[in-house]
Amino acid sequence: MRPVRLMKVFVTRRIPPEGRAALAQAADCEVEQWDSDEPIPRKELERGVAGAHGLLCLLSDCVDKKLLDTAGANLKVISTMSVGFDHLAMDEIKKRGIRVGYTPDVLTDATAELAVSLLLTTCRRLPEAIAEVKNGGWSSWKPLWLCGYGLTQSTVGIIGLGRIGQAIARRLKPFGVQKFLYTGRQPRPQEAEEFQAEFVSTQELAAKSDFVVVTCSLTPATKLLCNKDFFQKMKKTAVFVNISRGDVVNQDDLYEALATGQIAAAGLDVTTPEPLPTDHPLLTLKNCVILPHIGSATHGTRNTMSLLAANNLLAGLRGEPMPKELKL
Ligand code: GLV
Repeated sequence: MRPVRLMKVFVTRRIPPEGRAALAQAADCEVEQWDSDEPIPRKELERGVAGAHGLLCLLSDCVDKKLLDTAGANLKVISTMSVGFDHLAMDEIKKRGIRVGYTPDVLTDATAELAVSLLLTTCRRLPEAIAEVKNGGWSSWKPLWLCGYGLTQSTVGIIGLGRIGQAIARRLKPFGVQKFLYTGRQPRPQEAEEFQAEFVSTQELAAKSDFVVVTCSLTPATKLLCNKDFFQKMKKTAVFVNISRGDVVNQDDLYEALATGQIAAAGLDVTTPEPLPTDHPLLTLKNCVILPHIGSATHGTRNTMSLLAANNLLAGLRGEPMPKELKL
């Protein structure tokens, strides 16, 4: 029997098949989707969200006060297909009693795998090496050519030893890392024991690490945490990797540190803004590897994320416990 009242759901992008199918099967929802791989224009987003009961969005959609006002009083649930939620105006959402779903855990392995790939790509200078093969720069085997830095016997500093930070440490350990340092939240005792990681101040982490990996969430406390002062404390031979959010880093200061040899190299999966303009100074540097925010980009992970985001949304709309609800 057809339910009396359909709930309106707006989806801001074409999402993978499992999530789409879950929404399509929800007989109590009327689903409208921005059916494109490209971001929804703001005007369309405002039109689509007006009067909606549920919103399924991505990390690239800015859900601010104005959008919430446009959505109106119907809006009960926001489900983001991401683990990060710095694109959501949390204070406003909380005030309105809107429930929020997100997608932790299911992307941990894919993101940790990408972080390790980016670290190795950066420290062993793979983009430069590949370019030299193609452009004829490979004249012979040369003892001093394209040398980078290896992980054996190294100290790795992880900013944010949460789920993803730990998954990265677990993968890096077999490469012969000697010591892990970390800042951010204290791991539970069994986690600390697994990595024998030492909790240090951010400044100490900068000074002692051969590799710095940023995995923390973007919060007022971590915004621009990696700045001139931080890079000046790092070793000249150190490699910096960020898979968190671009705003954790002062990019002008990072450019300066890379261009002047204050640090050896950087690998970034996240930047400010995204996409990074193709004429950005960081893109002129050989010792900076930049990826287009692909941490969770495996077919399986993105499918699972879409299903979890759909299930969070549907459970929230039905007043049921969400599989992964953000506690506000
Ligand atoms: C990726 O950055 C995410 O927040 O899921």
